[in-house]
Amino acid sequence: MNYNVRSAYNVSAGVLSVTLFLLLMLGARAQQEVVQEVPDNFAMHPAPVQPIPYSHQLHLTLGLVCETCHTGAESSSSMGFPATSTCMACHNTVATDRPSIAQLSEISASGEPIPWQRVYRVLAGVTWSHAPHLEAGVQCGACHGDVAQQETMAMTTSVTAMASCISCHEAHAADTACATCHSWPLNEFP
Ligand code: HEC
Ligand code: HEC
Ligand code: HEC
Ligand code: HEC
Ligand code: HEC
Repeated sequence: MNYNVRSAYNVSAGVLSVTLFLLLMLGARAQQEVVQEVPDNFAMHPAPVQPIPYSHQLHLTLGLVCETCHTGAESSSSMGFPATSTCMACHNTVATDRPSIAQLSEISASGEPIPWQRVYRVLAGVTWSHAPHLEAGVQCGACHGDVAQQETMAMTTSVTAMASCISCHEAHAADTACATCHSWPLNEFP
């Protein structure tokens, strides 16, 4: 727990529900040091404007882990975005006086998903899945950098570039044949 953040929000009900949520869903986990393996992007990639001003930096200081919100690792190729109910487990009671949280509650009540803008995208047609990477023990931060330092999410790393895929595959003795990431024949590329 970060005490600055803790003392910054309204006491009693908020603290209680956050505490319950943390106890029920998270459990304590040791903070792992982030080792980014792919280079930063040379050019600035500004963060897209998101429908709700969500901050990884703020929420990760609460002790949340990536998998609380990005639950897709085991069941599908994509990590996915959190169910709005995951946010509302806290925000039914936390910071309800803020306009951004009122907006969050409104979307939640509508039953529609929050229209998050995508940040990282590989070219269509390239074979990609999170699954083999996580199975091989590659950490989120190796490709996405130190997300806990990001107030807004921008494409700070070059992980979607072919050179980044290949140099990491070389470093880990993973497959580098074209067919690992491209379907044949090559002239069928999009
Ligand atoms: C474990 C509890 C918890 C969860 C889960 C959670 N939040 Fe928060 N959130 C907080 C706390 C605590 C604050 C800080 C409140 C404060 O500044 O007093 C906060 C702050 C915010 C703020 C800033 C509010 C403002 O204007 O100051 C936004 C926006 C927000 N959260 C959105 C989200 C979204 C979207 C999700 C789901 C993806 C989410 N939160 C999930 C606890 C949580
Ligand atoms: C409280 C929920 C929550 C937690 C915990 C969380 N995220 Fe997120 N993440 C989100 C939301 C909401 C978005 C979409 C908004 C945005 O891009 O900021 C997002 C977006 C992202 C994206 C950009 C996805 C894209 O569009 O390409 C990455 C990468 C990411 N998160 C990585 C992480 C990593 C790594 C961790 C753990 C260190 C983590 N997240 C923890 C809620 C969370
Ligand atoms: C080997 C590199 C690598 C690792 C490790 C990695 N990611 Fe990603 N991530 C990517 C790439 C590349 C994309 C773009 C995927 C696309 O275009 O479909 C992406 C996209 C995402 C997205 C956008 C939504 C989605 O499902 O594609 C989220 C969220 C995300 N990553 C979170 C995480 C989290 C959380 C972890 C750790 C549990 C993680 N990533 C580990 C490379 C990685
Ligand atoms: C941080 C290092 C790293 C990065 C970056 C990375 N990979 Fe990987 N990749 C691995 C490792 C390690 C494996 C697992 C190899 C194994 O299990 O033998 C793997 C496995 C794969 C597999 C499965 C291969 C198989 O034989 O089943 C595919 C497909 C793949 N990566 C595509 C990509 C693409 C596309 C990118 C870039 C968008 C990328 N990878 C970026 C490290 C990385
Ligand atoms: C580890 C994964 C990986 C391997 C191995 C790989 N590529 Fe790629 N390739 C990518 C990714 C990711 C992109 C998209 C890059 C971008 O969007 O900037 C790409 C893009 C390309 C493109 C441009 C696609 C287009 O439609 O313009 C060509 C051509 C290409 N690769 C050819 C090859 C050839 C030939 C090989 C074998 C020598 C190879 N690639 C091996 C991941 C890989």
